[in-house]
Amino acid sequence: MKTTSNSSLLFTVLVIFSCSWAVSSHEHDDFLQCLSLQSNNHSSISNIVYTPKNSSYLSILNFSIQNLRFESVTTPKPLVIITPVHESQIQPVIYCAKENGMQIRVRSGGHDYEGLSYTSQVPFVIIDLVNLREINVEVEKKTAWIQAGARLGELYYRIAEKSRTLGFPGGVCPTVGAGGHISGGGYGTLIRKYGLAADHVIDARIIDVNGRILDRISMGEDLFWAIRGGGAASFGVILAWKLELVDVPEKVTVFTIAKTLEQNATNIVHRWQYVAHKLDEDLAVRVFIRRVNSTQDGKRTIQASFQSLFLGGVDRLLPLMQQSFPELGLQREDCTEMSWIESALYIYGLPVGSLEVLLNRTQANVRHFKAKVDYVQKPISKNGLEGIWKRFFKEEAEEAEMLFVPYGGRMDEVSESTIPFPHRAGNLYQIHYMVNWDEEEASERYINWIRRLYSYMASYVSKSPRAAYINYRDLDIGVNNKGNTSYTQASIWGRKYFKNNFKRLVQVKTMVDPTNFFRNEQSIPSIYSRWTKNGKEYACPNVDA
Ligand SMILES: Cc1cc2nc3c(=O)[nH]c(=O)nc-3n(C[C@H](O)[C@H](O)[C@H](O)COP(=O)(O)OP(=O)(O)OC[C@H]3O[C@@H](n4cnc5c(N)ncnc54)[C@H](O)[C@@H]3O)c2cc1C
Ligand SMILES: *[C@@H]1O[C@H](CO)[C@@H](O)[C@H](O)[C@H]1NC(C)=O
Ligand SMILES: *[C@@H]1O[C@H](CO)[C@@H](O)[C@H](O)[C@H]1NC(C)=O
Ligand SMILES: *[C@@H]1O[C@H](CO)[C@@H](O)[C@H](O)[C@H]1NC(C)=O
Ligand SMILES: *[C@@H]1O[C@H](CO)[C@@H](O)[C@H](O)[C@H]1NC(C)=O
Ligand SMILES: *[C@@H]1O[C@H](CO)[C@@H](O)[C@H](O)[C@H]1NC(C)=O
Ligand SMILES: *[C@@H]1O[C@H](CO)[C@@H](O)[C@H](O)[C@H]1NC(C)=O
Ligand SMILES: *[C@@H]1O[C@H](CO)[C@@H](O)[C@H](O)[C@H]1NC(C)=O
Repeated sequence: MKTTSNSSLLFTVLVIFSCSWAVSSHEHDDFLQCLSLQSNNHSSISNIVYTPKNSSYLSILNFSIQNLRFESVTTPKPLVIITPVHESQIQPVIYCAKENGMQIRVRSGGHDYEGLSYTSQVPFVIIDLVNLREINVEVEKKTAWIQAGARLGELYYRIAEKSRTLGFPGGVCPTVGAGGHISGGGYGTLIRKYGLAADHVIDARIIDVNGRILDRISMGEDLFWAIRGGGAASFGVILAWKLELVDVPEKVTVFTIAKTLEQNATNIVHRWQYVAHKLDEDLAVRVFIRRVNSTQDGKRTIQASFQSLFLGGVDRLLPLMQQSFPELGLQREDCTEMSWIESALYIYGLPVGSLEVLLNRTQANVRHFKAKVDYVQKPISKNGLEGIWKRFFKEEAEEAEMLFVPYGGRMDEVSESTIPFPHRAGNLYQIHYMVNWDEEEASERYINWIRRLYSYMASYVSKSPRAAYINYRDLDIGVNNKGNTSYTQASIWGRKYFKNNFKRLVQVKTMVDPTNFFRNEQSIPSIYSRWTKNGKEYACPNVDA
């Protein structure tokens, strides 16, 4: 395999390194045989290799599936699952997958919204990092090394074990994996104060297409830039991150205030749009929108639930809210003071008690779901909001939800190109749309409901591009071909996730993985094309790059 070129002029100069081919559809027996030959310890490799013949294959596969849409009998399944317990067991997998023309999918926590870490339309192997989950917190240095397969709850727990005044600005759901989450950006309730999880990565370990283990120095700043928000699946296998922890006060304050339409929800949400992004950056007030049965007469109504984390005590919070957002009517008795780690339980909706639940890697309520995202840059009119409510009264919306996440604060201070995640200044808030259901057969109806809501929203949200977030992966916004995707075609979804950073991501990809070994429906293309003809796979420079 040819090694990388250092040219930064990849769009103009390309070395044609033969239109090489590899056999594309081999029996996975050859892959397994290769693996056993490549591994210096046969007994250790056989402990981590599962094929459908192993009785525990399905339970290993299902363990990290977080969307039942991709756990059906018809979902394409891997030929082989490998669950490494040492980094050195990954290199042979990459080598043998390349040799045998098989795709790999890397899975850390399995929360990918479209299941890309564990399903594929072509024959594939899963590298499941479920056993690589060590976390080392160094309180004095305010840093932590975390292996890719560790979950966010484990990270928060390990930090709190050593310090009550350190935290990390990652996602809210404790089962989310470090590997996918941090490589896609990653945010939670500390977003206004500290930005994204990926903003706080200071080193990383990755295995590249040639099986080399690289750290920040040996991978270089281009690749180190790309994996902090560009989605690591296009570039290699992340082994671990080194994180910079952030200061949190000993005491934080939380509150949740719910308002129905009868309690003036429309006006208060409308007002929220003008204030939430300008509040003190210690304060983040998110809004959940749901349909509920009104408590008075059982009539259906819309409920806006204002859920907040304030990095300080209630005495400082009350005057801030009175001054900036009196419409919500916050009272002292609505507020509870607690430690930051307890707030992690509260915000996720768990009882504020034992912290051990953060170590539980099984998500409580795994459902079928489809989700989407938007960025709002000017306040939506009251009429516009009422149009949303109307759609939430449809039958399919019984278990649908919208979440408004306020931006501003730190997000306004980081430039769009610091890391690949570009959605910074200029955004008032982010909208996360989600619909849940149980019956497999009904999937189409729910998916159509959320698509209609999304198309209704078009005139109220960011345009050219209509921005999206790779951690809220949505294949509706565009996909690659199987194999042969041009820069122009990939730009359709790529610019939505990354805006102008897409171009640099393609340059980095072409440099580190020119033959596009690490690929999926929305992986960054190398500016080479590849296609299959008579069972052979070709890779050539892409004509319209
Ligand atoms: C219930 C739920 C709650 C969520 N809450 C939040 C939230 O609060 N904030 C937020 O920002 N996001 C949130 N997310 C989205 C989440 O950040 C993304 O789904 C993220 O990509 C999940 O990472 P994972 O490791 O769990 O997923 P996986 O499905 O394992 O991976 C996601 C993608 O990353 C790739 N990948 C995974 N590990 C590696 C690796 N080690 N090396 C290379 N590539 C890898 C996969 O191949 C796949 O393409 C949530 C998702 C769910 C389902
Ligand atoms: C090989 O792997 C097995 C099982 O993981 C382990 O017990 C053994 O010590 C290893 N042998 C060597 C030589 O590393
Ligand atoms: C899966 O089955 C194969 C063949 O029987 C066996 O060699 C291997 O050890 C099994 N894998 C695990 C993890 O037990
Ligand atoms: C795993 O999911 C499959 C559907 O793909 C289901 O049929 C099976 O019962 C599940 N198995 C286990 C062990 O969870
Ligand atoms: C509803 O909110 C609007 C705008 O904030 C306010 O003017 C009005 O007085 C509120 N009405 C009630 C009944 O609280
Ligand atoms: C709301 O009311 C409907 C109809 O009475 C009922 O089917 C549904 O379960 C209720 N939902 C909740 C969340 O209580
Ligand atoms: C972990 O959480 C799941 C889902 O809520 C639950 O079923 C399970 O009992 C929990 N495990 C432990 C050890 O508490
Ligand atoms: C691959 O793309 C190139 C350039 O767009 C095109 O000429 C070629 O026909 C495509 N091959 C296949 C198999 O689609």
